[in-house]
Amino acid sequence: MAKVISEDVGAFAQHFPAVATIVTAQANGKENAMAVAWHTSISFRPPLYGISISPKRFTYQLIVDSKEFGVNFLPFEQAELVASTGGSSGHEIDKFHRFALAKEKPVKTAVPILKTAYAAYECKLVDDKGYGDHRLLVGEIVAVHILKEAFTPEETLDLAKVSPVLYLGNERYLTVSRETTKYLDRKVYGKR
Ligand SMILES: Cc1cc2nc3c(=O)[nH]c(=O)nc-3n(C[C@H](O)[C@H](O)[C@H](O)COP(=O)(O)O)c2cc1C
Repeated sequence: MAKVISEDVGAFAQHFPAVATIVTAQANGKENAMAVAWHTSISFRPPLYGISISPKRFTYQLIVDSKEFGVNFLPFEQAELVASTGGSSGHEIDKFHRFALAKEKPVKTAVPILKTAYAAYECKLVDDKGYGDHRLLVGEIVAVHILKEAFTPEETLDLAKVSPVLYLGNERYLTVSRETTKYLDRKVYGKR
């Protein structure tokens, strides 16, 4: 099949599918939640996590004011919540009220944590740097909220118990199943 090589990068600057998360924040008596697909682990020690968000987002100002944010991973049955929080702005509505987002108590921050998340991080902001039209916010993970049953004893997500929300771009969502999982031991494969 022929490849097209182009300097017109456009939408190809992002690569999907990616796990879609909901980032939460609060400040000045307001709380908010927004869909985020541009996020990544950065370091184990200390545990650092990065999210790339536009400074236009209501969430951005809340994070700058509070110096904290939450990253929430929801099961596929709740993909609609990702679309809801990504299709509306805290500039206009109270999303926690409108979408009946259930919360659980944070332990190290004041960030609202989503009750239905199978995993969530409480992060304290350690860096905020602009790259093009987005800001890369780096947080130190100061607490994790983990649904034990969703993980195997080796701390891998157990796909028999929970399916993650993946985003394909253009408003398409999907998930993965246990049947498509391959176990490829790097120590074995590195010697081949
Ligand atoms: C699946 C999905 C992923 C998104 N990922 C990001 C992202 O990584 N960074 C970003 O700035 N906006 C992202 N957005 C857009 C924001 O979620 C959207 O602009 C939202 O309205 C911002 O809410 P806020 O103004 O209440 O903060 C995404 C939207 C969707 C639906």
